[in-house]
Amino acid sequence: MLPPYFVVDRHSRGDYGATGSEVIRTTNMTMKTYSFLELARKRRSIRKYQDKPIERDKLILCLEAARLSPSACNSQPYKFIVVDDKAIRDSLAEAIFSGIYSICKFAAKAKAFAFIVLQKQKITARLGNKIQNIDFKQVDIGIAAEHFVLQAEELGLGTCHIGWFNKKKAAEILKIPKNYRAELMISIGYPDETPKEREKKNFDDMASFNGYQKAT
Ligand SMILES: Cc1cc2nc3c(=O)[nH]c(=O)nc-3n(C[C@H](O)[C@H](O)[C@H](O)COP(=O)(O)O)c2cc1C
Repeated sequence: MLPPYFVVDRHSRGDYGATGSEVIRTTNMTMKTYSFLELARKRRSIRKYQDKPIERDKLILCLEAARLSPSACNSQPYKFIVVDDKAIRDSLAEAIFSGIYSICKFAAKAKAFAFIVLQKQKITARLGNKIQNIDFKQVDIGIAAEHFVLQAEELGLGTCHIGWFNKKKAAEILKIPKNYRAELMISIGYPDETPKEREKKNFDDMASFNGYQKAT
């Protein structure tokens, strides 16, 4: 399933994980690599998209990045469904962003959607949830989704995590089995905007060393 050049790059050229910005040419595409911090700094939620199709290979690389995510007890309690077919995408957009969900209608212009379907966790992870009173499934899908998003960013794609959509309608159209549901989705497209960096907490409010309070 992975594009062949991906394997070639990884094993023989060894420059796939290069740090710093550089341009890598593969059989099918040219991509720039970034250091991780550059990439994290560059990423924004993108809500305007160009009318330009997304190469299937790029979507596959994003899925591969998500597949490699860590998860509680390695439970991997998710399945990604990528929709890049126009007809299915249009009917989904119509159904899942109507009524109270219409605030997310911007996503209808995205060229692909990735739905993250929550599945059952391993028993060990479920036990962990109970004991710690934390739903690790939600943590797991957040991590996998962000792996996907950061890989998309490196490939020049814009994305937005979307939690506000009609999950029942999504389940109907995507034929998601009963008891599972698409918890989160990601809209994907070539960006047609360059938003300013959104306000983030300053470093001292966000982090401290050796205890909750800042050392004085
Ligand atoms: C779990 C999650 C759910 C989100 N749901 C939505 C959503 O339903 N609609 C939307 O427009 N943005 C959504 N976002 C995007 C956030 O609004 C955005 O990440 C935040 O404002 C910070 O902006 P930035 O991503 O550009 O740094 C979501 C983000 C996350 C992580």
